Amino acid sequence: MTFLSATLDRVKPSPTIAVTTKAAELKAAGRDIIALGAGEPDFDTPQNIKDAAIAAINAGKTKYTPVDGIPELKQAICAKFARDNDLAYTPAQVTVGTGGKQVLYNAFMATLNPGDEVIIPAPYWVSYPDMVLLAGGTPVTVEASLETKFKITAAQLEAAITPKTKWFLFNSPSNPTGAGYSWDELKALTDVLLRHPHVWVMTDDMYEHLAYGDFRFCTPAQVEPKLHDRTLTVNGVSKAYAMTGWRIGYAAGPEVLIKAIRKVQSQSTSNPCSVSQWAAVEALNGTQDYLAPNNAAFVRRRDLVVAMLNAAPGVVCPEPEGAFYVYPSIAGCIGKTSAAGRLIDTDETFATALLEETGVAVVFGAAFGLSPNFRVSYATSDVALKEACQRIITFCEGLT
Ligand SMILES: Cc1ncc(COP(=O)(O)O)c(C=O)c1O
Repeated sequence: MTFLSATLDRVKPSPTIAVTTKAAELKAAGRDIIALGAGEPDFDTPQNIKDAAIAAINAGKTKYTPVDGIPELKQAICAKFARDNDLAYTPAQVTVGTGGKQVLYNAFMATLNPGDEVIIPAPYWVSYPDMVLLAGGTPVTVEASLETKFKITAAQLEAAITPKTKWFLFNSPSNPTGAGYSWDELKALTDVLLRHPHVWVMTDDMYEHLAYGDFRFCTPAQVEPKLHDRTLTVNGVSKAYAMTGWRIGYAAGPEVLIKAIRKVQSQSTSNPCSVSQWAAVEALNGTQDYLAPNNAAFVRRRDLVVAMLNAAPGVVCPEPEGAFYVYPSIAGCIGKTSAAGRLIDTDETFATALLEETGVAVVFGAAFGLSPNFRVSYATSDVALKEACQRIITFCEGLT
């Protein structure tokens, strides 16, 4: 008998956290490291949100709260869905958890039985397949290509659906590619789902507000209201409001599902942090004025990174619609040898050689289910980005 659970054999630790840790170790050892691995904005949480949290502490709002959120936050979430997404939800159809990550995890725990399939477009956020495996389900990945700018097609979705499909997991704008589905592109997918009434939709709208240029964010239940009663719309405050450490995520969907999610949460973590919930009320109800300047900075950085990476030999970097990631292809670098003599046979060896030889930390594509690529998070200063991209260009020029 082994001491550790057999379930753990099926999952791997988060590779993004592994890269961040390795970069931090090298930095601590005195190396000049530029880390482009972390998935969080470099901005500070806005002052009005911090003030709301401090006021909550001073008012003694430091006790247990209802398991899946205070009424004031559920109300603010309903108002947000009505305002931003044309979605009508009541507070009983809303759940709040410790980050979007916990909400997604609880939703899988609450619904998956052995053999249940979850369709996950690749490249995907690293945690999706492992969450599904932990909950006893089977991830079914559908690979998007560089040619479709990392978006899957209706035909691909149709082909992946089986009688065992329970969820279609959708994420736009995407981590790791930044790809955002237009209304028409999403409508093509929801049309497929209309033909398969046993399939539910879990949509991870975490990067909703990080949408650039002409791209307009939309979400499945908004594009196809007939899906409203079989959609779980997940969102959170981490990315848009620079609140990654506060740990508040939320979702809305049919009450029977919300109750099941609450049951899972009631026997694990109970309520998310009370003070963070009050901060989230202010994030959603307060001024949204800082979103535009933050996005202007992200667009500037995206444009800088896309232009510079496309100047690197062997690299092709499409321009994404949102989030703060790019996902360049390095197909043109595979099979070559680095200046220090390393054979670049996979995107993992590319990322390792890049880190060891230039001090630039990126996450290799295999971690996200589509190779050969790497992910750059451009949520860091323009100066650091310029220097990092220059080092990537020099590294690629040195490949023979
Ligand atoms: C696509 C996606 N979904 C969900 C999350 C989790 O966000 P949270 O900080 O709210 O748990 C992340 C965080 O990196 C993400 O990239």
